[in-house]
Amino acid sequence: MITRIIGTGSYLPEHIITNDDLAQIMDTSDEWIASRTGIRKRHLAKEETTAFMASEAARKALEDAGIGADKVDMIIVGTITGDYITPSAACQVQDKLGAVNAVAFDINAACAGFMYALHTAYAYLQTGIYKTALVLGAENLSKIMDWTDRSTCVLFGDGAGAALVQAFEEGSQWASEDETMGKTRGLLAFEQGSDGAKGMVLNCRGRQNNNPLIENPFVPSYVSMDGQEVYKFAVSTVPASIHRVLEKAGIGVEDIKYFVLHQANLRIIQSVAKRLKADVDKFPVSLDHCGNISAASVPVLLDEMNRKGMLKQGDKIVMSGFGGGLTWASAVIEW
Ligand code: ACO
Repeated sequence: MITRIIGTGSYLPEHIITNDDLAQIMDTSDEWIASRTGIRKRHLAKEETTAFMASEAARKALEDAGIGADKVDMIIVGTITGDYITPSAACQVQDKLGAVNAVAFDINAACAGFMYALHTAYAYLQTGIYKTALVLGAENLSKIMDWTDRSTCVLFGDGAGAALVQAFEEGSQWASEDETMGKTRGLLAFEQGSDGAKGMVLNCRGRQNNNPLIENPFVPSYVSMDGQEVYKFAVSTVPASIHRVLEKAGIGVEDIKYFVLHQANLRIIQSVAKRLKADVDKFPVSLDHCGNISAASVPVLLDEMNRKGMLKQGDKIVMSGFGGGLTWASAVIEW
């Protein structure tokens, strides 16, 4: 069975907030943010909901693949900022697309959410349970930021990215008209892990108990982060995860055309490149104009690369997500 990404899409909110805009409302500066993170601006949702952004990204992925929503068997959304606890963002996307034949659910793995969702879809597709999956990362992080905490709120943005993934038996009739089908091996290997013991270094508390036994009123919670611990986790775990996934795929760092990493921080990306002894030019960047969009960052960047024509049939690419949980996941794909 070959499982391949056959379409990508993304959606970024209309409103763009620059570092200078933030400096108008808090004690920060373009120089501080850009020099420490590489971020210059981010898109923030005003009217857009998580489900709206996700469904717009999904529509573009379906268009890119030339496939109708009725052909989608499953929808998985990696998100920590769904609009509702229930229904899931994935069920909302199903409804908005009219993807009536799809099973739909969300995955909570923070910034690794898209990669966890992709691995989950891969497992269903490889075993023949389903044939076509829409895999999304979608976040409306601005609603869980404390906009008085300059150490976190300047880092994040909102948006959604999608990949349409399809499986086929080698030699079988492909559902799409794309003539490159069957000429590439698609998703080659995955590696993922979790470390719940370090979960509190990047956290956002959910709803508290408010039954009649509770005396204290509900206190809203926002993203809270030990930035230096997250940095240490990322620069040690991500290169190790990439080495493991390359070993599983039976190829080396030198075989990889692009490393599509979660876009948390330019310094993390540069450090991972150095530790892998890979040319930093092989690490495309979107955080300069998107900020950190958690689960959406890998698929948004992948879609940007796809639309710029950077991805050629046969290119080998590593994708890697890492973040809250703590969680991480890497994959090797042949485009
Ligand atoms: N503007 C100006 N000054 C600021 C800002 C800001 N936005 N934020 C913090 N400061 C100040 C602090 O108050 C502190 O001042 P003080 O020395 O007077 O107390 C000073 O800058 C240094 O603060 P630190 O928190 O120590 O800043 P640090 O140098 O560690 O940089 C950063 C923070 C960029 C977040 C860094 O820790 C980092 O790169 N962390 C990696 C983790 C990351 O990127 N997380 C993103 C989300 S997690 C994920 O996606 C996996």
